[in-house]
Amino acid sequence: MKYLATTSFGMEGVLKNECILQGFNVEQVDMGRVIFSGSLKDMLLANLTLRSAERVFWILDEARPMSFDELYDFVLAYPFEDIMPAKAQIIVNAKSYRSKLYSLRDIQAITKKAIVDRYYRKKGIKYLDETGEVYSYLLRIEKDQAYLLLDTSGVPLHKRGYRQQHNQAPLRENMAAGLLLLSRYFGKGDFCDPLCGSGTIAIEAAMIATDRAPGLLRSFSCEDWGLIDRKLSRDLKEQLEARIKPAEFKILASDKDPRAVAMARRNAKTAKVKLELKQEDLTDLKGLSTGGTLVTNMPYGERMGTQDDIDALELVLGSKMKELETWRMGILSGNPDFSKAVNMRANKVRKFYNGQIDTWFYQYDARKRW
Ligand SMILES: C[S@@+](CC[C@H](N)C(=O)[O-])C[C@H]1O[C@@H](n2cnc3c(N)ncnc32)[C@H](O)[C@@H]1O
Repeated sequence: MKYLATTSFGMEGVLKNECILQGFNVEQVDMGRVIFSGSLKDMLLANLTLRSAERVFWILDEARPMSFDELYDFVLAYPFEDIMPAKAQIIVNAKSYRSKLYSLRDIQAITKKAIVDRYYRKKGIKYLDETGEVYSYLLRIEKDQAYLLLDTSGVPLHKRGYRQQHNQAPLRENMAAGLLLLSRYFGKGDFCDPLCGSGTIAIEAAMIATDRAPGLLRSFSCEDWGLIDRKLSRDLKEQLEARIKPAEFKILASDKDPRAVAMARRNAKTAKVKLELKQEDLTDLKGLSTGGTLVTNMPYGERMGTQDDIDALELVLGSKMKELETWRMGILSGNPDFSKAVNMRANKVRKFYNGQIDTWFYQYDARKRW
């Protein structure tokens, strides 16, 4: 079976490595997605374990339709009656990039018609009442290559289930995990986020450090379909639970805002991880150990303060960063000139879209060994 996992643009390499680590056979890596093959069990394993993924789709089939008639025949040929009950609620979405077939409304309507017609023909049913489990299809065409996809995740994977509370500018959980993995944080050495907000980066760090699978707090669409044996799914979750180990090093998180600290505390509790949390202004950050990883997310945009506030914070952060010679650091910032602002040349800068906002991830290697 083939799967397509989506992620943020720029995180494909991280997601590819995660897939390899889980033993999936990676076949293709493209902008914002990784295609891999695996078993039916891997459908659930991928949803439970891939930290940087946004969704996992099952690739039912692919073709190069050049007309709507060809699209209809392509979809009609798939044996939906083998994977979906007659009561299924059928949702169809469409995406098209640089392709001959581009009208999303037509692609969507034709795909849905073909799915329903297939059912009528094979099962002799005249009416689908659509009151059962959700089957959400995506017909995705890129440069005329069409994929018939079934969404196995349901609620997007960044919604782990621990963040009931967030501040105004939270980072998506899978993006936070991706930034940590890009920073080569695997739980070795102390970790610190001194601008922790609702705690997302520190909580993801704690999940990495303790080998806690990110999907253990929630369920996925594919679990509702009855395709994956219930015992197999229970055993898999038990195996993942059994892998959880205590963190070997400290995971520190702080913020000047007491409401943010309270939120982070509640979120960490829900996520079942331990953080060393405190209310502290960045100016007072001191006494960090000999070495570790610092990953944080600067405030940006009007929602998070004035430009003067951000300029002042960059000055403080710059001086702290210079003190942390034995720390590897990664700062997500909305400032394209952040390196200049902190007066430190980054070893690597990567661009990401956080929501609709342009951001840059500035990575600094430790300047001294610890
Ligand atoms: C962009 S938010 C962090 C969001 C966080 N990554 C999350 O997912 O919730 C930036 C945080 O920096 C905090 N902050 C701003 N200035 C600070 C300072 N001088 N010292 C400590 N925290 C500060 C704000 O209170 C805010 O929570």
